[in-house]
Amino acid sequence: MTRRIDIVEVGPRDGLQNDPGNLTTAQKLEFIDRLEACGVRRMESGSFVSPKAVPKMADSAEVFMGLDRSRPVRHIALALNEKGVRRAIDAEADEINFVLVAGEGFGRRNQGMSPSESADMLEQCAPLIHEAGIPLSATISVAFGDPYDGEVDPAVVANLAARAQRAGIGELALGDTIGVASPWQVRALIERVLIEAPDVFLRMHFHDTRGAALANVAAAIEEGVDVIDASCGGIGGCPFAPAATGNVATEDVVYMLERSGFETGLDLSKLIETAKWLETVLGHPVSSSLSKAGPFPA
Ligand code: COA
Ligand code: ZN
Repeated sequence: MTRRIDIVEVGPRDGLQNDPGNLTTAQKLEFIDRLEACGVRRMESGSFVSPKAVPKMADSAEVFMGLDRSRPVRHIALALNEKGVRRAIDAEADEINFVLVAGEGFGRRNQGMSPSESADMLEQCAPLIHEAGIPLSATISVAFGDPYDGEVDPAVVANLAARAQRAGIGELALGDTIGVASPWQVRALIERVLIEAPDVFLRMHFHDTRGAALANVAAAIEEGVDVIDASCGGIGGCPFAPAATGNVATEDVVYMLERSGFETGLDLSKLIETAKWLETVLGHPVSSSLSKAGPFPA
């Protein structure tokens, strides 16, 4: 039987939040429509954070209001405090992805919280989300390294995972926000997390800042992970991470996986078309390999 790998498209959120290009709300909705036409069934469509902190996500409520809800697509809202959670519930998000942080330096700058305070905040917000009947997932950002403090102790990540599991999350992503992980580190961290949070369902979130993202995806899949975050075109990055670059590109992941016999449910040629469309609306080239080289066999 073919193994299915589900890709969570994060282009409309992680992708656009730090891109120099400025999309209008209508263009964001067109991006989302195009992704749905590629077969995307789950995506981060916006974030409910301070508009001062991340101006590019200031129109997320309008984006959610403009979504075509007749399609079987799960639109995820990112939140990292109670105000964000309440705004995401009001926007009728299909899922809330809560951001935990594994490093103090990044945590202070990104969200004004230490790792432990981010878990306190999740514990405070989880009941609201459960009461609203909305699926809750979480991402541990800078799980493989902090841009300000350097190495992150895997014990901190495992402890956050255990607390998130107790708070009732349905899925947990380990996020390599600044693209410093290596494939062997990926395998080791997954094993470590599963010792302390054995029932957690894992997703992985890689940035390609240092060229190892596809290798890291392969390592995670070998380790049993079935859900991967990726962004069309490989756009993306965090405004609070110096020299941040894009997420692993959706079309590059789809190519690697489908060529290896996995099923993703995504249409590679439509993804490449969407990446090329993105170049026209963002006003700059995107970084994915497949948008340059094309598929093989042609
Ligand atoms: N949505 C909109 N506005 C928000 C908000 C939210 N979720 N949370 C706080 N605010 C507003 C407050 O109302 C307040 O507004 P005011 O200045 O007009 O009174 C202002 O932001 C500051 O609020 P405060 O609670 O003091 O927060 P802070 O200044 O310590 O910042 C965060 C904390 C979490 C709001 C901020 O760091 C943030 O939004 N970070 C997002 C980072 C991010 O998205 N990174 C990329 C994805 S991981
Ligand atoms: Zn990211």
